[in-house]
Amino acid sequence: MGNLLETVKGRKSVRSFEQRPLSEEDRNAVEEYIRDIPNPFDIPVRFKLLDAKEYGLSSPVLSGEQLYVAGIVEKKPYADVAFGYSFEKLVLYAWKLGIGTVWIGGTMKRDLFERAAGLTQDSMMPCISPLGYPAKKRSLKETMMRKGIGADSRIPAEKLFFDGAWGRPLEADEEMKDILEMVRWAPSAVNKQPWRIILADGIYHFYEKKDNGYVSDATGDLQKIDVGIAICHFMSGLEEKGIKADVNVNDPGLEIPDDAEYVASVSMH
Ligand SMILES: Cc1cc2nc3c(=O)[nH]c(=O)nc-3n(C[C@H](O)[C@H](O)[C@H](O)COP(=O)(O)O)c2cc1C
Repeated sequence: MGNLLETVKGRKSVRSFEQRPLSEEDRNAVEEYIRDIPNPFDIPVRFKLLDAKEYGLSSPVLSGEQLYVAGIVEKKPYADVAFGYSFEKLVLYAWKLGIGTVWIGGTMKRDLFERAAGLTQDSMMPCISPLGYPAKKRSLKETMMRKGIGADSRIPAEKLFFDGAWGRPLEADEEMKDILEMVRWAPSAVNKQPWRIILADGIYHFYEKKDNGYVSDATGDLQKIDVGIAICHFMSGLEEKGIKADVNVNDPGLEIPDDAEYVASVSMH
């Protein structure tokens, strides 16, 4: 795989796997990588590999998988955003190694996974993913599911990225266009793409456009996880282009719709 934009646009959720374990080399690489996946919110996200057979784990949308990774984060403000950021780093890392993943926040027997992950009261395990080699052919149920969700399309850029004010389309230069394209192609719960960006005074402000039904005790706000994923793609894109930037949470107080909420901002320097 070439650059990050190709990785991001080439990545697809994988729900049908070859029935063979990860090679020792790949498994070691993943184990090493998940030891510490930092995020700009400084909220540690822990990862645990769970053997499907050992714990009797499965998911109705998956086939062939033998190994899962569970992500765990302490319950506190921004835990969901931080979780999205760190877990997505793993998703992109795995894809570059040829390992398929899919974010799973709903379609699993949550109790079994939480017990296997050794979850405690003060923490949550918002999502898990299988880790394995993509099968040559998708299962029929996976193909139908992708169609149903519209998994191969995304909202056009002019409806996501704004210039100065919510709703005014952003005309980005070539470099930033690539980076925004990486944000646009990020995965999200039910492919809702709830991230919005307003560029104001040179700072990129990230917002969540909320739908009903995505918040629970077990997962936090799944759409804030999505925004964390979007910020991860944005920062990874900047990093690849050698642009230094950092994330802060200074709400500029711009006018936004009632169903939107400010999440974080990225300033470049
Ligand atoms: C936070 C989150 C939760 C998700 N939960 C599920 C799930 O429970 N089951 C599932 O099959 N897919 C789940 N997905 C995968 C999305 O449906 C998928 O990313 C989206 O349809 C876009 O498809 P793509 O990843 O192939 O680009 C989830 C994705 C995210 C980001």
